[in-house]
Amino acid sequence: MTDQKNVTIFDTTLRDGEQTPGVSLIPEEKLEIAIKLDELGVDTIESGFPIVSQGEIEATKLILKQGLKAKICGLARPNQKDIDAALECEVPYIHVFIATSEIHMKHKLQMSREQVLEAAAKWTRYAKDHGVIVEFSPEDATRTDPAFLEQVLKTVEDAGADIINIPDTVGTATPSKMSQIISQAVSVVKIPISIHCHNDFGLAVANSLAGVRAGASQAHVTINGLGERAGNASLEEFVMSLHLLENRKTNIDTKLIYKTSRLVSRLTGVPIQPNKAIVGENAFGHESGIHTHGMLKSPLTYEPISPELVGRKRWFQAGKHSGGHGLAAKLAEDGLHPSEEQMKEITHRVKDIGDKGKMVTDAELFAIAKAVIGSVSEEKKIVDLKNLTVVTGTDVVPTSSVKLLIDGKEYITSEVGVGPVDAAIKAIHKIVSPLADVRLKEYRLEATTGGSDALAEVLIKVEDSQGNIVSARAARDDVVIASVEAVIEGINKTLLKSRGKGTD
Ligand code: KIV
Ligand code: ZN
Repeated sequence: MTDQKNVTIFDTTLRDGEQTPGVSLIPEEKLEIAIKLDELGVDTIESGFPIVSQGEIEATKLILKQGLKAKICGLARPNQKDIDAALECEVPYIHVFIATSEIHMKHKLQMSREQVLEAAAKWTRYAKDHGVIVEFSPEDATRTDPAFLEQVLKTVEDAGADIINIPDTVGTATPSKMSQIISQAVSVVKIPISIHCHNDFGLAVANSLAGVRAGASQAHVTINGLGERAGNASLEEFVMSLHLLENRKTNIDTKLIYKTSRLVSRLTGVPIQPNKAIVGENAFGHESGIHTHGMLKSPLTYEPISPELVGRKRWFQAGKHSGGHGLAAKLAEDGLHPSEEQMKEITHRVKDIGDKGKMVTDAELFAIAKAVIGSVSEEKKIVDLKNLTVVTGTDVVPTSSVKLLIDGKEYITSEVGVGPVDAAIKAIHKIVSPLADVRLKEYRLEATTGGSDALAEVLIKVEDSQGNIVSARAARDDVVIASVEAVIEGINKTLLKSRGKGTD
């Protein structure tokens, strides 16, 4: 089929989506979501299943009162109580459903084919007589005998249904099967055909696309793919695929997709998996050096969807797969421009942390870069750390042994302290004091992230005998090494100053 008309979006986040295990929304929350869905541009909002509870009726009434552009629809089985409950809400649109597969008719409904046909026709007519739009769903359509399905479709069309929805209730269809069923449905009735796909095999979006390609003009979807069991076709994946891969249109304002997804996640309490397409945290993140390098040359290399199109931004993650280009671009955003040599050292340290199984946060990358940029260059170092060991514990006096290279000569000593950091700094001081009169004036330790494996950033101030003060910093994932590096950095700066040399 080459029907290039807009595909209608029937959003069932507030009905099938609310059937996600553990999700229950109060009327005010449903209203908040409905307002966002309306701004997003969905054509129809299935606000609930009114017969289920007083809260469902209240929610539907509340949403109707808001006077949204989207049509508001209520779900009902083909019986008086269900349809009257929907009518009591004054919805202009009722979605009537009854199962048509042998499995459901036999085990769940305990009804014959004739009884199902009769109920479908009778209550479709009843709803139509009350002046509402009627959408009819033969539940479990994709497992229904095709000949009987044809009979059902013709019957409800004759009874006045405005649109027929084909549910793949347990998600067992494949794209080719969906295509076949929809082609058949389109050929037997004149009214529009809709699709409703569940994601039990991860095929909900693929099946929905196949259904539309075969002639369905409407799709049932949910934000974040919420819904019974593995959920329904997700609005964001379906709409973006339709727009960008199938060159079809909807009324969705795609820039509002991310905000809507966040709101639904917050109100339903269902987190979004990080690698979820379009709305997952990682959907527009790049870590690998090769990818980042390509992205910096042209986003076309590794970005099939522009993040702005769905209200998002791309980001680069520092980690063991990072390359210098990506890290340099990230630092440049924060106004840091390391030299090539410094960039090599920063990249080396980031990969080192990555190899220990950790990711490097933006704050950590910034701390590493600041420490590397501000440090004395290798060839100018007067004092260099060759070796450091610490012993600490509940039954031992914290002790540290330090080996330093000063002006090319090796010095070794050990000291005790109140803790390993204190012992190490005292050992350094013991070696350095005959050569330079420096003392530690200030010591500050900061953890850049909250975890026990956080990068330790040490900021110190060292004072010489003339009262000159220099500051230095170091950032490492080991607090003792960070402290020692910062102190040695401070001593180097002081000595270089007293010898009248610059630090870089
Ligand atoms: O999945 C399904 O069959 C349904 C019906 C109510 C249409 O959600
Ligand atoms: Zn469903």
